[in-house]
Amino acid sequence: MNIKAITEKFNSLFGNELCVYTSPGRVNLIGEHTDYNGGFVFPGAIDKGIYAAINPNGSNKIRVYSIDYQSLSEFGMNEEDAPKEAWARYIFGVVREMRKRGFDPRGFDAVFAGDVPLGAGMSSSAALESTFAFALNDIYNLGIDKFELARIGQSTEHNYCGVKCGIMDQFASLFGKKGHLMRLNCATMEFEYFPFDPKGYKVVLLDTVVKHELASSAYNKRRESCENACSHIKAKHQEINYLSDASSKMLEEIKNEISEEDYMRAKYVIGEKQRVLDVCDALEKGDYATVGDRMYGTHYGMSKEYEVSCNELDFLNDIAKECGVTGSRVMGGGFGGCTINLVKEELYDNFIATAKEKFNKRFGHEPKVYDVVISDGARRLAISH
Ligand code: GLA
Repeated sequence: MNIKAITEKFNSLFGNELCVYTSPGRVNLIGEHTDYNGGFVFPGAIDKGIYAAINPNGSNKIRVYSIDYQSLSEFGMNEEDAPKEAWARYIFGVVREMRKRGFDPRGFDAVFAGDVPLGAGMSSSAALESTFAFALNDIYNLGIDKFELARIGQSTEHNYCGVKCGIMDQFASLFGKKGHLMRLNCATMEFEYFPFDPKGYKVVLLDTVVKHELASSAYNKRRESCENACSHIKAKHQEINYLSDASSKMLEEIKNEISEEDYMRAKYVIGEKQRVLDVCDALEKGDYATVGDRMYGTHYGMSKEYEVSCNELDFLNDIAKECGVTGSRVMGGGFGGCTINLVKEELYDNFIATAKEKFNKRFGHEPKVYDVVISDGARRLAISH
């Protein structure tokens, strides 16, 4: 990322005093659509993020310039001041959610840019929320802990961006640690860092560069299906708080009370919980064959039961299988975006070349390729003027 371009733009618009903050996007090895069901996720922060130069401006106004959109947005801090630019609503939302919780960030000027590919399922929006949440907390000494900062980002999505997301993306962006994945129990928010350095393997993302319309409303609909299945199970088993707490047997008991669609969604979530646990065990033993097998299991579930895959993603998954890739699956919310692949080093070149050629032949463009580097979470960069 060209930090100099950000600070220079800031200087030209707002002056010389500034601090630079960054917060990354994320990958997720396994545990998809489990966060809002109280299950486990297994994400890590990546070496791509949002970078913002920021400084208090002594007023109650916020002035933010987006280098990527080449657009300046100015707005106040009250509910009626919502900016019209879609990208600025993420920043407005963070400020609003802080204020709703009784914190009092004041006005600021900022310039930001990012290198998380948009719509690729790497959580550029969580990176944006986390950058500003972390920065405002630091600049104004608000004393908010990182869990609450993550919730502030999540509520921003819910209340200002229309996505009823779980906590995974904001958590990963804030808590990321170089070389480590994190296993998070989303029901209790307990988590562990797992060193992740699969010797002899590479982790690579293949981005279909498609983002299907209505992804947010389809996402919210999945969540409703899960909540519906869960409430039926809870009626019979009071001890169940989240769908991820339920067993397959409990789901079978209520099968006739819910739609076939809701049943399939719940079946996927309950299966996914076990797959994450299997992957954690397998990683501790260096058993990458099992890790990969469960990744394919997740892809199958997301494609056939949860129905959040698409032709492009299924196509890439099939190519991975043909090329002997150890594990491959759609990553993130789905409906487009990328696959995450665990591939032996010696098979890497052939896999990438084959995927590019076949995908191009079928869909008229190549997928984008991103090698994954697991990196640190939100932080202030040692640049100030
Ligand atoms: C999106 C959401 C997350 C999570 C994933 C699917 O990235 O923001 O909360 O639900 O989809 O695992």
